[in-house]
Amino acid sequence: MQADTSNTPVLEVRGLTKSFGAVQALSGADLVCPRGEVTALVGDNGAGKSTLIRCITGVHPFDEGEIHFNGEPIRLASPTEARARGIETVYQDLALIEDLTVWQNMFLNREIKRGFGPFRLLDRRRMIADSQTRLKRLLVNMPPVRARVRRLSGGQRQSIAIGRAASWGSTLVIMDEPTAALGVRERESVEQLIGRLRSDNIAQLIISHDLEQVMRVADTVWIMRRGATIAHWRVADVSRERIVAAITGADGGDARASAANDRATVVE
Ligand SMILES: Nc1ncnc2c1ncn2[C@@H]1O[C@H](COP(=O)(O)OP(=O)(O)O)[C@@H](O)[C@H]1O
Ligand SMILES: [Mg+2]
Repeated sequence: MQADTSNTPVLEVRGLTKSFGAVQALSGADLVCPRGEVTALVGDNGAGKSTLIRCITGVHPFDEGEIHFNGEPIRLASPTEARARGIETVYQDLALIEDLTVWQNMFLNREIKRGFGPFRLLDRRRMIADSQTRLKRLLVNMPPVRARVRRLSGGQRQSIAIGRAASWGSTLVIMDEPTAALGVRERESVEQLIGRLRSDNIAQLIISHDLEQVMRVADTVWIMRRGATIAHWRVADVSRERIVAAITGADGGDARASAANDRATVVE
């Protein structure tokens, strides 16, 4: 029996640093993602948010610092290793393949096969049925699983991308700007999905530029500036104005943030 894992955060990041040549993208990033909570990460373009996520999920190796997953120190070498641990990521440029169907995207790199040896075949029927069951549990307006992704609206696609991550991500789902390209109704349906995952006790880490959304869906907000996480609050205890001031440095900054290198903000 595993003791006490319920109070151990799913993810804990301490003092992460990462340079790309002369660019110090991370200069001391911390983060805690508890089970059943939505953790928001906010900051200006170029602050290092995507880099932090990519270091967590094994896309980039990091230089210094520690990452603990369910209390255990880890250093993932690839996103495949992250997936094997139940960490799923919806990257900023979403990764559905337009020419494939919904169910084919659901089972991309996870194909179910049947038969033996050289006669193994893709088990289409099972993957179609399984996609249907998995997505139906998560999505309100579910597109047909046999539909090609190119025929779906932006919101449907984003829902499938998140639904896929949520369906396989048993412990932590990370989303980089999940609703940036969506209309109001589509955004609402993604936010409903976030709420559902939250009640399923999954930890979620969400990067968002939309502070109204952060106030609506997140439990905790972490502010990133110039590669460092400079502050964090329970959303219930902070105003939108205070968050904006921290993002821009209008609050006078913090010793660590001011000491960070003077690199100009880079637009994505
Ligand atoms: N693969 C990379 N190679 C070189 N520089 C990078 C790379 N990825 C990010 N950077 C730089 O690191 C900094 C942080 O970028 P990023 O993590 O994308 O910020 P954010 O997601 O907060 O907008 C920026 O200065 C960016 O140009
Ligand atoms: Mg980014």
